[in-house]
Amino acid sequence: MNDQTPRRYKGTLLERAASQFHYAPTGPVAPQAPPVRAHAPAPTPMPVPAPEPSHTPPPAFVPDGPMLRRGAGEHEGASIAVPQQARGRRTAPIDRATLRAGGMIVPGGQITPLAEEFRMVKRQLLLTARAVAAKDTAKAADRARMVLVCSANPDEGKTFCAINLALSMAAEKDVEILLVDADFAKPDILERLGMPSGPGLLDVLSGAVASAEECIIDTDVSQLSVLPAGAKSNSDTELLASDRARAILDGLAQANPRRIVIFDSPPALAASPASVLALHVGQVLVVVRADQTSEGDLRDAVSALDGCEHIQLVLNSVSFQPGGRRFGSYYGEAGK
Ligand SMILES: Nc1ncnc2c1ncn2[C@@H]1O[C@H](COP(=O)(O)OP(=O)(O)O)[C@@H](O)[C@H]1O
Ligand SMILES: [Mg+2]
Repeated sequence: MNDQTPRRYKGTLLERAASQFHYAPTGPVAPQAPPVRAHAPAPTPMPVPAPEPSHTPPPAFVPDGPMLRRGAGEHEGASIAVPQQARGRRTAPIDRATLRAGGMIVPGGQITPLAEEFRMVKRQLLLTARAVAAKDTAKAADRARMVLVCSANPDEGKTFCAINLALSMAAEKDVEILLVDADFAKPDILERLGMPSGPGLLDVLSGAVASAEECIIDTDVSQLSVLPAGAKSNSDTELLASDRARAILDGLAQANPRRIVIFDSPPALAASPASVLALHVGQVLVVVRADQTSEGDLRDAVSALDGCEHIQLVLNSVSFQPGGRRFGSYYGEAGK
């Protein structure tokens, strides 16, 4: 499906999502997420980054780049990169066949249209992280390296996009990606990667496990690690809203200045943890499913998530044949 020739390709998924839903995307340093307006004129398209060479994309961050800057004395020792595979941490391979079967980016595989689209998406997120690092406090810079992938409703492609984004970002030279399964009610990151389960974020939040770093599973994809969701409880939202949660989540970014943390979120309109998570992160990517998400739902989702300053929409124009077989691709008819 993803190897189909793109039909009538117009703009990136970010641009098409913005224009289809009359949403002016936040620029790299836009101070506020603009409201979703029902009948506003289509916004001026965002500047599209120059196409990258397919084999050696330029590094998003250089070691002395703004993302790594810290205020004097903050996060002592943070400029020394934490080794990717911390001692004693578990390692598990990602099952390439499972990725392929799910229509996802396969590391080391062909450059597909899907991979190209995610390059655009990640570039915008990395630009925002860099711009915040250059202009704002060290704390804001750390938060800007935390990205929540959310959507209004279930089945709109949050997990699909979070995994593809993580795989795409892990190919960058100067970053390490931590993919966090934060959809506590329906955690499926590990299964979708073909990885074994383990303790995770909820166990750390509840105090059953001392440190999140202990739960992180390194993968055989260079620069990509996963933090599982952990054991469910009836008080996920309360656990997430606690000061302890804030410290733990901030700690994920502070532990490694090269780290980008991508959270796979529950749906914004079906569960309260999403809006709490939005308060903890520096960027939110709202997945809009072209054939499914209504503008009303999108508007409600964006307002549930507006605790975060930097919100962008991404268009997931997947479509399905009756009977469940996929035939569409990211390059659907939406956004024409
Ligand atoms: N662009 C896409 N191409 C192919 N399959 C997709 C795409 N987007 C979503 N899917 C599939 O649709 C289903 C629902 O997506 P998922 O990411 O699990 O949604 P959510 O996390 O929002 O509940 C999954 O089987 C997923 O693989
Ligand atoms: Mg999901």
